[in-house]
Amino acid sequence: MRVGFVGWRGMVGSVLMQRMREENDFAVIDEPVFFTTSNVGGSAPDIGCDVPALKDARSVDALKAMDVIVTCQGGDYTNEVYPRLRAAGWKGYWIDAASALRMEDDAIIILDPVNRNVIDQGLAQGVRDYIGGNCTVSLMLMALGGLFQNDAVEWVTSMTYQAASGAGAQNMRELLTGMGAIHGKVSGLLADPASAILDIDRQVSDFLRDDGFPSQHFGAPLAGSLIPWIDKDLGNGQSKEEWKGSVETNKILGRSASPVPVDGLCVRIGAMRCHSQALTIKLKRDIPLDEVESMLASANPWAKVVPNTREASMRELTPAAVTGTLTTPVGRLRKMAMGGEYLSAFTVGDQLLWGAAEPLRRMLRILIE
Ligand code: HSE
Repeated sequence: MRVGFVGWRGMVGSVLMQRMREENDFAVIDEPVFFTTSNVGGSAPDIGCDVPALKDARSVDALKAMDVIVTCQGGDYTNEVYPRLRAAGWKGYWIDAASALRMEDDAIIILDPVNRNVIDQGLAQGVRDYIGGNCTVSLMLMALGGLFQNDAVEWVTSMTYQAASGAGAQNMRELLTGMGAIHGKVSGLLADPASAILDIDRQVSDFLRDDGFPSQHFGAPLAGSLIPWIDKDLGNGQSKEEWKGSVETNKILGRSASPVPVDGLCVRIGAMRCHSQALTIKLKRDIPLDEVESMLASANPWAKVVPNTREASMRELTPAAVTGTLTTPVGRLRKMAMGGEYLSAFTVGDQLLWGAAEPLRRMLRILIE
């Protein structure tokens, strides 16, 4: 198989390359070919074998020679190149991290530990477009997969705590710049144990509201604050990120015709690359908690049930604990005061791994093997 890679140098693409090297994926690809939008003829990345010089990612002729194209280049690139490529008669597999094609009827959203059946059905029917899901949705389903597989969910509300990485590399830098700038404003007072905390707070508050606070990319201060809106305003009170929660969950599960309602509020917080979610789940019946836990734990090797204790939650259920790992822990599991069918849960997952790169490399493996 000739596999073309586009957008391998950006943040998601770099995580994809790192994961593919770790899993020795390049050993099973006959001919990896790397494309570029800016450096045609340049050197391809070191993947441990000889690869041709970089080809033009906008050349339909060059792309047409591929059996599979994996792109992390972004939605604008997809919108520009994909229609031209299909119009030129290309019949290969398109694996894409961007959302551009995600809700198309003839595209499958890939999250194989959760929807391998949907993927296999798509392959059997000749579907050619396999698109990574929204990170928040994918991470929620990795953690809660067991409940959906057992058809135990009547509805879910998800209150999210989303990391800066979901908005891009520049946003991660802005978060850190903001943290440093806040500290810099008050470092003198902070170093003096006799200073008054309310004086420090006043200076920080004034700075957060100052035009000079670094907020060019997020549009509002994130460090020392939060932003209760992610992505576009759909004009009906819902953000696009919140809309995706429902439509993508049901598309991934292959049940868009009889959808499980999923809704909530999506909030940006000052974590680097782990999205967290507080969930309220209405179960279809009053399932004992130990059964809920075993459904969740047995659904896939990455969903890990964290005991609902203070100690375990603080040790294992935080962005600091989970970042850079494939584990999608789920904890704070308990029945709520509203009744035995109401379950609370909290989950954390690395937005760049299961939320972006990992489903892509696994889809490639499915195609090759
Ligand atoms: N839209 C997500 C976010 C990122 O802003 O966190 C990836 O799906």
